Amino acid sequence: MLVVIHPNPEAASKQAAKIVADQVRRKTNSVLGLSTGNTPLATYAELIRMHREEGLDFSAVTTFNLDEYFGVPRDHPQSFYRHIHENFLDHINAKPENTHIPDGFSSDFAKTCMEYETAIKRAGGIDLQLLGIGRTGHIGFNEPTSSLASRTRLKTLSDETIADNSKISGEIPTISITMGIGTILEARRILLLATGGKKADAVAKALEGPITSSVSASALQMHGDVTVMLDEDAAANLTHRDYYRRVIDQTAKHSPERLGLK
Ligand code: PGA
Repeated sequence: MLVVIHPNPEAASKQAAKIVADQVRRKTNSVLGLSTGNTPLATYAELIRMHREEGLDFSAVTTFNLDEYFGVPRDHPQSFYRHIHENFLDHINAKPENTHIPDGFSSDFAKTCMEYETAIKRAGGIDLQLLGIGRTGHIGFNEPTSSLASRTRLKTLSDETIADNSKISGEIPTISITMGIGTILEARRILLLATGGKKADAVAKALEGPITSSVSASALQMHGDVTVMLDEDAAANLTHRDYYRRVIDQTAKHSPERLGLK
């Protein structure tokens, strides 16, 4: 796991954007896994800037969003469909037929979930999955006690997640449709972004605690290519901070491409 600690959220977001941009430049038909929430907004803004000013081309890119609220139609103000469109997809040149968001308004969820998994496989699997982390340690909406082998399915939200997300968008549904942890772990590369002191406890448990379904993000310890972008506040409870900095200095020297630096 590459853990990069930045002085502030802006620097973390910009470097996350560099890694995504580098992925898209190296493989123009990359399959990207996208996340919603507040954390990736600055990363999306930077990618939009790169698209407009530097010609970063998403025309052959395919995207799959992690999750969606249950019972929420696409055009609902709280839908993640609208969130990702307003904050990213509407401002780049990805083809609408290549962008995928779980259908929260399906009348047959078992089928919808299965088809989402099939669509990811048909696209060749996810090359780079962007993730945030919840205060509960969730990735996607995989709340504590989610099976580490779980696939796309309906998931009941925890009280903490309902409280946190209600602060952003008012009263929210209490059930979601989310990629499972097993689905996420199949991505070839994972980029986790976390900023702010509220995430410090979840980040420390995920990165340095035991692998446990009580902290879904701890499952990332079993993945071979995870990069974690943090600001100082989100990194505050990590015990190996100095070691991570030394690793990053070495990586920047010897494998700069892993950090989007080349
Ligand atoms: P946030 O959500 O970016 O709004 O904090 C992260 C998450 O729940 O995964």
